[in-house]
Amino acid sequence: MQETLLDPNRPLRSPLRYPGGKTRVAKMFAPHIPPHTEYREIFAGGAAIFFFKPRARKSWINDLHPGLYALWRTLRDDFDAFAEKCRQQDGDRRKLFNYWAFERTDLMTARGTDHLLDRAVQYYYLNRTVWGGRVVFDPKRKSRLYFSNPEGWSRLDKKLAHLEQVSAKLQGVRITCQSYEECLAGATADTFIYADPPYYRESLGHPTNQLYDRSFTVADHEKLAEQLNGTPAKVMVSYENCSAVRRLFKGWRFVPKHWKYCGRYAVTKAAKARGEKERKVTGRELLIMNY
Ligand SMILES: C[S@@+](CC[C@H](N)C(=O)[O-])C[C@H]1O[C@@H](n2cnc3c(N)ncnc32)[C@H](O)[C@@H]1O
Repeated sequence: MQETLLDPNRPLRSPLRYPGGKTRVAKMFAPHIPPHTEYREIFAGGAAIFFFKPRARKSWINDLHPGLYALWRTLRDDFDAFAEKCRQQDGDRRKLFNYWAFERTDLMTARGTDHLLDRAVQYYYLNRTVWGGRVVFDPKRKSRLYFSNPEGWSRLDKKLAHLEQVSAKLQGVRITCQSYEECLAGATADTFIYADPPYYRESLGHPTNQLYDRSFTVADHEKLAEQLNGTPAKVMVSYENCSAVRRLFKGWRFVPKHWKYCGRYAVTKAAKARGEKERKVTGRELLIMNY
């Protein structure tokens, strides 16, 4: 890799299609980020804020999804092998999807550093081609991996050029796969923590509709608020704007934000019958800060 590629202050887009991902709103969030020497993104997903903001002296990204962990680790440590293996995925896209989604279930249960390269390519291929970028490894419900975006694997050279910059930005970054509580230890007033947990409303719905491999119960949301209340770090949380969430973070500063969600449309049956066009859903979310 060429050293010149690395400009840690240059904003980058996350390379992933990520449900609830913050790529499109990172610019809107950036003015709320306080000065800090250490950055921790404890529910990283596609890590949109990490990739957008200037890199701190120390950075740490964490997510409980083992496939994501394999991808970020491999991009950080083994970019050339990753790029080579991606180039080998050039056959029939549906067959490749079936291979990674249904034949390589062995990789979905791998943990730690086992088979990192294959797991990374599996995660990336599925993320590009699956419905809505939702990569859920649930052997009991194979239908949750649904091939709907073959175009997601086109223009691979362009994607790899972007991934090379992603790899450069990941150099020196701590990457973990653990529950967020373990990422709070040792934080100081110079640490900035960004927390983008699973949506509150998801905890009230049916488990099979959940967007993430790892979901949250109402009790988990309560525990998160409690844990974040106890840290000396500066914390910014993003959540949907609802009274339950406001109650959890009583005493914190709230800044409402809204934007059109990518890929989510609302139109009633009656409106559709009248020939109305599908409209994008407007997300009403909150930035919640303890500073
Ligand atoms: C809203 S998404 C984060 C999206 C991210 N901000 C982005 O821009 O792509 C929430 C993430 O939390 C992760 N997650 C769920 N439970 C977790 C836990 N207990 N600890 C750490 N991560 C968890 C999920 O895997 C998911 O990636």
